Amino acid sequence: MPVAAALALWHRAHIYKALVCVVLALIALQYLLSGVLDRRSLETIFTINATRYGDHSYRNHPHGLIIYGLGTSPAYQASTLNITSTAQLTVQASRDINNATRQDMNATRAISSPSNTTDLSTPQRCPLIPPNLVGPLTVTKNPPELSVIESTLTEVKQGGRGWPSDCNSRHRVAIIIPYRDRPQHLQTLLYNLHPMLLRQQVDYQIFIVEQEGTGQFNRAMLMNVGYVEALKEREFDCFIFHDVDLLPENDRNLYTCPEQPRHMSVAIDKFKYRLPYADLFGGVSAMSRDQFRQVNGFSNVFWGWGGEDDDMANRIKARGLHISRYPANVARYKMLSHRREKANPRRYEFLKTGKKRFGTDGLINLEYQLVDKKKPKLYTWLLVRLTPPQPS
Ligand code: BGC
Ligand code: MN
Repeated sequence: MPVAAALALWHRAHIYKALVCVVLALIALQYLLSGVLDRRSLETIFTINATRYGDHSYRNHPHGLIIYGLGTSPAYQASTLNITSTAQLTVQASRDINNATRQDMNATRAISSPSNTTDLSTPQRCPLIPPNLVGPLTVTKNPPELSVIESTLTEVKQGGRGWPSDCNSRHRVAIIIPYRDRPQHLQTLLYNLHPMLLRQQVDYQIFIVEQEGTGQFNRAMLMNVGYVEALKEREFDCFIFHDVDLLPENDRNLYTCPEQPRHMSVAIDKFKYRLPYADLFGGVSAMSRDQFRQVNGFSNVFWGWGGEDDDMANRIKARGLHISRYPANVARYKMLSHRREKANPRRYEFLKTGKKRFGTDGLINLEYQLVDKKKPKLYTWLLVRLTPPQPS
């Protein structure tokens, strides 16, 4: 072959290679740019909303964007708890929104892809913000007869379970209620709680953990038992520990688990709707399955009233977690009245020495007997005999 022809061939091959490279580079560039632009627009939307309402206490709210959109009332600006910078808020929110968007895109892809074997009748994931929330609730302290409540709440399934009928819930939530001797309170709570949880589109089950006998009450141990027993039923990812005498006043107080443990009962009428002290973790609180395991659950040594929730606050901090809260105008509760409990005189002593027990006292050494278990319509009932822990 003449030299000139060979050279021409060699050149052409290189031109083709170069062309292929350019096309590939263009495709990559377009892909990269679309990701960046998407993210930018989401961040911008969120920052505008967050700044306008200026309410920083949503820092751990998984659904910040839309809640801000809903929060048109000036009262949304009222809370001064948990102040963080807008920048932090934006980062957190955009991360959540990116995750959510990715999940939603996956869901859409799964349904629209023709080669996919997904059953087309499978409902989509529920929206990030439940669409039927009403905000402030009318709390009823005098509920109808139990049988009437049972027949009215048609969507509630045996054992006190509920889930959204038209979408897949994002949250599997166990509501754990330590209990003894308060039938009227229980009835009132169930009457108020079920409709709210259904509106919140959580996939939930209510567990009443009743302490057998008349000995000193141990709220913390009952909550540990509730956690263990609930997980025998289903792989719940979120646990709400709930006093029987607290009635939520706003359905935007979502019964879900955020990235950090959340104290839910921020503003209670009995405390003039003010948080008594910054580390309070009593009343109603939310922890994910993993967070609860990470702190070894509650301590088992607090018999009688007080201290066990403060010990949990210490456990949370000791594990590098922190207590998060919704704003006080959302996290509102009414308390039902009852006789004052006898406070445990040793609670300060146990609190002070608590740290050395964090690893040895809790889920790890929990002992009890499940005496009875029933599933009436509105709740799963567990009767338990607690075994006091061996001194460590
Ligand atoms: C107790 C807590 C209780 C709080 C609010 C504290 O003194 O130790 O257990 O939740 O008061 O009543
Ligand atoms: Mn109480």
